[in-house]
Amino acid sequence: MQAGEYTTEYRAAMKGCTREEHAKLTGVIKSTHAKLRQDFKTDGKWEPVWQEHLKDEKMRREYSTAMYSLATGHWERPGAPESRIMWCKNTCLEFFYNDGLKKALAKDERRRLFIEEAAKRSRAERGEGSSCHVQFEENFSINKPFSRKDIDPSTMSACTPLYLLDVGSCYNPFKDFSEFCTVAIDISPAMESVHQCDFVHLVPSPPLPESVAMATYIDALPPTIATLPRNAFHVVVFSLLLEYLPSPAPRWRCCGTAHALLRDGGLLVVVTPDSKHVNRNAPQMRAWRAAVESLGFRRWRYEKLAHLHCMAFRKTGAQRVVRPVACRRRLRGSTVVELRAPAGKTLWT
Ligand SMILES: C[S@@+](CC[C@H](N)C(=O)[O-])C[C@H]1O[C@@H](n2cnc3c(N)ncnc32)[C@H](O)[C@@H]1O
Repeated sequence: MQAGEYTTEYRAAMKGCTREEHAKLTGVIKSTHAKLRQDFKTDGKWEPVWQEHLKDEKMRREYSTAMYSLATGHWERPGAPESRIMWCKNTCLEFFYNDGLKKALAKDERRRLFIEEAAKRSRAERGEGSSCHVQFEENFSINKPFSRKDIDPSTMSACTPLYLLDVGSCYNPFKDFSEFCTVAIDISPAMESVHQCDFVHLVPSPPLPESVAMATYIDALPPTIATLPRNAFHVVVFSLLLEYLPSPAPRWRCCGTAHALLRDGGLLVVVTPDSKHVNRNAPQMRAWRAAVESLGFRRWRYEKLAHLHCMAFRKTGAQRVVRPVACRRRLRGSTVVELRAPAGKTLWT
């Protein structure tokens, strides 16, 4: 799947925009993504490519202007075919205010009891240390899951507004929703309310002391941010962010940082473009899921809209240290870089 892959039908659905205007704007988006990917292919290392991109202010400014026009003028207009922003909003509200979190925790508890029971039976039938027993224990402990006592769904739900971090926000689309108190960040902000920040290099700071209210902290944030506190946000949104990054390693890093910044039980919402049929990129979506889940998340919702994959992952456990290995592989005629877990399972293409 390539970033900015929108079909002719989708473009045609962008009424109110001349064909030329739309082509010009999407051209800016596509050429930026293509340049980043090409530079990465040539260089082989993402960090120097990324540093060069950060220095190229002109290109980033053109990108954010084009993105702002496309998003506000066409994609997110009332009546547009699908709204990723509304999907994110509705998903969060269902999770926090409509029993989503409560039901998910109850399911975790049933799963835990089932595994405990199965492990006990297995021990009794086969004797201590049998492979079956070990397998059960490994599966269960993989993310050091939080228990019900760690997350109190009633306090999470009672929390209004929800603290939402919008990464790669561009134009701060969540700012007018009263349900959220939003911190919007971007390497190239298109609005003043968006803080300048490179999330790939953001370093999580210790959690806020109890004496400091989150709202007060947010009000005092400077225009440029290099750090944010751990366990601070109910929601982190990556809407059309990950495919902007030229290789799996910085995407991986971003998901790890999101995990650190989320409160226990919080939600990471990921939206990525794809106008193809749901099955076309299913293996890639499975790889994305495996990658995110291996960092201490569990997928709570997945939906394929006509032009988007929309996913919500809840933070289910303490992050474990995974050292993935980058490998090159041929996929449909081109070379892709993917991350593999040491056991050989593909994590991220
Ligand atoms: C395709 S736009 C998406 C904008 C908006 N989220 C939306 O859904 O319409 C991707 C945005 O991510 C920003 N971005 C890319 N890498 C970033 C990073 N490491 N840190 C912060 N923002 C980043 C880009 O500047 C761009 O504005």
